[in-house]
This record gives sequence, C-alpha cells and structure tokens, in this order.
Amino acid sequence: MNAPPQTVLITGCNRGLGLEFVRQLATLASSPSCIIATCRKPDNAVALRKISNKYPFVHILQLEVTDRENIKKLKEQVRDILQGRGLNLLINNAGVGPGGDLYDVTEEIMMNTFKINVVAPLLITQAFLPFLKTAAKTTEGIGLSWRKAAVVNISSRLASIETNDEFLVGRYSYKTSKAALNMVSKNLGVDLREDCILALSLSPGSVRTDMGVPSAPLLPHQSVEMMLQVMAGLNEDDSGAFLNFTGELIPW
Ligand SMILES: NC(=O)c1ccc[n+]([C@@H]2O[C@H](COP(=O)([O-])OP(=O)(O)OC[C@H]3O[C@@H](n4cnc5c(N)ncnc54)[C@H](OP(=O)(O)O)[C@@H]3O)[C@@H](O)[C@H]2O)c1
Repeated sequence: MNAPPQTVLITGCNRGLGLEFVRQLATLASSPSCIIATCRKPDNAVALRKISNKYPFVHILQLEVTDRENIKKLKEQVRDILQGRGLNLLINNAGVGPGGDLYDVTEEIMMNTFKINVVAPLLITQAFLPFLKTAAKTTEGIGLSWRKAAVVNISSRLASIETNDEFLVGRYSYKTSKAALNMVSKNLGVDLREDCILALSLSPGSVRTDMGVPSAPLLPHQSVEMMLQVMAGLNEDDSGAFLNFTGELIPW
C-alpha cells in the first residue's frame, strides 16, 4: 500500500465500518500520525477506547453529525489537535439505513435520513475545508491522492439508479439519500479539484454490520481492507467518481 495519509478524521467510529477503519489504519506499519475518530457517545465506545488506549495518536471526539453547534466545537478541537498541520483524509462514514418502502415510508424518515446521510457529510466537509486545503498545500507530491487531501463519502451500491431493479426496490429514504450523497461527491470533486483535494463516493459492498444483513458476504475487516486499498490507489481520474470497494466504477 502507498504511504498512508498523516492525519485522518472519520465519523461514526464506535462500531461497524468506522471502528474497523480506525483499527486498520492505527495498526498499519506506517500508520497516520493522527487519527481523529468521532462518535456520538465516547463514554460508551468501549472497543474504540481500547484502540485509543493502545495507540495514543487515536483521538476520540464526540460528534452527533446533525448538530451544527457540535460540528463547530469539533472544528476547534481538531484545530487544537492538528496544531497547524492540515487534514489529509476525511471519511464521512456515519450513516443510517432505515427501512421504508412505498407503503410505510414517512416524511420524518425521509428528512431524518437525508439530514444524516446527505446534509451532514456536506456540512462536515465544508467545516473542515480549511484544514484539507492546508494539507493539500503542505503535503509533498504531485497530483491528487489520499496522502495529500481527500474526502471519501461512504455511499452504497443501492444508490445506483441505473442498476436499480425489481429485486432491490423499496428502501426509499436510504437509496435516495445515498444517490443524493453521490451528487454531493461529484460536485465536491469538481469544486475542489483546483485545490488539489480529491472527493468521491465509495461503496463498502454488502457487509455484516448492525446495518448490513446477517447473510452479507463481507466481514467488516474484509470490506475495509479493500476500501483502504482503493483509497491508496486514488488519483485525479477518480475525483467525483462513484467507486465500488473493488475499485470499479458503479454506474450512476
Ligand atoms: N453494512 C453494509 O452492508 C453497508 C452497505 C453499504 C453502505 N454502508 C454504509 O457504510 C457506512 C457505515 O455503516 P455500517 O455498516 O458500519 O453501519 P452501523 O454498524 O450501523 O454503524 C453506523 C455508524 O454511524 C453512526 N451514526 C448514525 N447516525 C449518526 C448520527 N446522527 N451522528 C453520528 N453518528 C451517527 C452510528 O453511531 P451510533 O452507534 O451512535 O448509532 C455508527 O457508528 C454507512 O454510511 C452505511 O450507509 C454500509
């Protein structure tokens, strides 16, 4: 794997894929020098605290992604931790996957899912742009890469409009929110290219987490290992893309 980024921030790290991202990044031979792992309730995040106790460069900070005041406070805490360094990699991982098919989806489910899965990743990226820009300016190397500056939005294959079919119907709030997140990623990819910041959507595959189905083919460590391989190989051609955990493009 290419040299990993030096500073990383990940949301939703107390369980599932977020926790696994922290575990794998922290245990890399040449790990980042700073991993900021956010979660809603740090006091209850037992597995995450175990990692942080062993690897002091893993900082746990509290974040409810829909709370604007919380994002503001987090930004100040991150500024103190980074002490002038930039933020190389932001992984917008926190998300919800409620049900809700044609006959039972409600306005409340739709709005809540959009707040968490679409609005929050955009506003969190907006808040951390100054740090991402600093990283892009101060990290050596030509071209765009995860080492320099990147925003990775964790999307889902279910966002694909083109491959939606009769076996995958329903789940209105989840599928529409991740499709909208893909547009956020595409827009960010275009807007941030001139600042040398990559942005894209990445699908983890179908994974056995609390959100995933028990029969899902992938375990969290397998999905995250492959996603990190994909991230390590990213370049300017991937900006704004919708990629699978295998590295292939997923049709919009
Ligand atoms: N598992 C799959 O098969 C699969 C497939 C495609 C895409 N994904 C995507 O992968 C990402 C991670 O999912 P996962 O499988 O790891 O799910 P998970 O085990 O259910 O974990 C979801 C994480 O998001 C956090 N979260 C939810 N709402 C939040 C909020 N309002 N503020 C802050 N944190 C919040 C949760 O925190 P709490 O513990 O506090 O609730 C938890 O840490 C999600 O974006 C999901 O859509 C997963």
